[in-house]
Amino acid sequence: MRILVTAGPTREFMDPVRFISNRSSGKMGYAVAIAARNRGHEVVLVSGPVALAAPVGVTVIPVVSAAEMLAAVSGNLDSCDVLVMAAAVADWRPAAVSGQKLKKLKREPDMRLEPTADILQTLKPRKGDRVFIGFAAETEQVEAEARRKLVSKGLDMIIANDVSQADAGFDVDTNRVVLITSEALPLSLPLMSKQEVGTRVIQWVEERVKASPRKGGIAGLRDMAPAGSVPRAPGRLAQQLGFIREIDRLKLVLRRTLLMDGTRYENDAEHSWHLAVMAILLREHANTPDVDVGRVVKMVLVHDIVEIDAGDTYCYDDAGNRGKVAREQVAAARLFGLLPEDQRQEFQALWEEFESRVTPEAKFAAALDRVQPLMHNYYTGGVVWKQHGVNSAKVQDRNRHVGEGSLALWEFAEELIRDAVARGYLEA
Ligand code: PMT
Repeated sequence: MRILVTAGPTREFMDPVRFISNRSSGKMGYAVAIAARNRGHEVVLVSGPVALAAPVGVTVIPVVSAAEMLAAVSGNLDSCDVLVMAAAVADWRPAAVSGQKLKKLKREPDMRLEPTADILQTLKPRKGDRVFIGFAAETEQVEAEARRKLVSKGLDMIIANDVSQADAGFDVDTNRVVLITSEALPLSLPLMSKQEVGTRVIQWVEERVKASPRKGGIAGLRDMAPAGSVPRAPGRLAQQLGFIREIDRLKLVLRRTLLMDGTRYENDAEHSWHLAVMAILLREHANTPDVDVGRVVKMVLVHDIVEIDAGDTYCYDDAGNRGKVAREQVAAARLFGLLPEDQRQEFQALWEEFESRVTPEAKFAAALDRVQPLMHNYYTGGVVWKQHGVNSAKVQDRNRHVGEGSLALWEFAEELIRDAVARGYLEA
């Protein structure tokens, strides 16, 4: 995607040496730009006057005033999929600007102010299916004020920061923000680095664009597939390579678990890899001593492939779980059907074995599949549990079958749940 970010303050001059401005250092906007670049996007950064180095690989357009920022954002909007306004644009400017330095007079200068153009409001009619994100710097009624701006400025998301706190908002390296959209519950994030906030914001945009792709967005990358004839392989190999290409999409399926460092959501491919390593390491804790770990590894690598078509269903989403079996069966038929017949049967059988949870291997695999997200939730302070209103009884219930595969892991899981409650990560 091409992402347009603004950062820093604007300066509104009253004469050649004096101006109205604010305390924005640009750190928040630069962090968003760097996060977008790190995640492979093209980034244009419109920056007010700051003391930060231009990030490598980012196109930086320096501006001074709100009017210049508006012109730069407006000029680049058409070629961008996303606009993130992290800049603290001055709301007023002197109505008259003196060409010469104003003289110090006996009486106070008679300075009249006029409002600057609101950049987001001005560009709202050109939004189309672009993603627009604003920040709200507030000192009181933080969420309510931010929500008002979300609606009035026609935004997809607003990031509210309580700038009355010393470790958040202006000119510090950390921030404590609430992500507010019109569709979901607000997501309050704990204190984290601005870089981490930037990553969360870009992660959210990617999910949003994936859900409703616009031309030139992530889905547009599909148009970049080489045109004309591409190298061909003989029948069986061609089928296998086609399947390998198809399952790359598992990396795009995001789960409702944050990475253990809380920086972004985990994807299904990462989850499967984690389980495979756990299977090898933790085999001695399986209830069945001679569990076939090779088959457990195969099973956990295959178990989520169906989610390429069926999507990830959050385990505490009761409504979503009702239609899950049928959705996944259709997905399994299409996806495994891409393979040569013998391998189709093998993958289908592994997936069904995992789902039925009858064999010792399947029970152990299912135990790993539950313990891993528990750890993610625990190490991220239960942010996602809280977001979905999950309590300890529900977590106990949903994970109880861990004991069928590994009593040792279930004991550990119970301890983790108890401690999560004690620490306030999880409702009792
Ligand atoms: O730069 P840092 O030191 O790292 O500090 C970060 C920050 C506190 C500046 C940043 O996190 C932040 O909150 N930026 C927005 C500050 C702000 O001006 O909020 P606002 O509530 O006044 O404006 C709401 C939104 O409208 C913002 O996205 C703003 O960029 C935009 N706006 C505001 C005024 C204006 N004339 N035009 C606009 O588009």
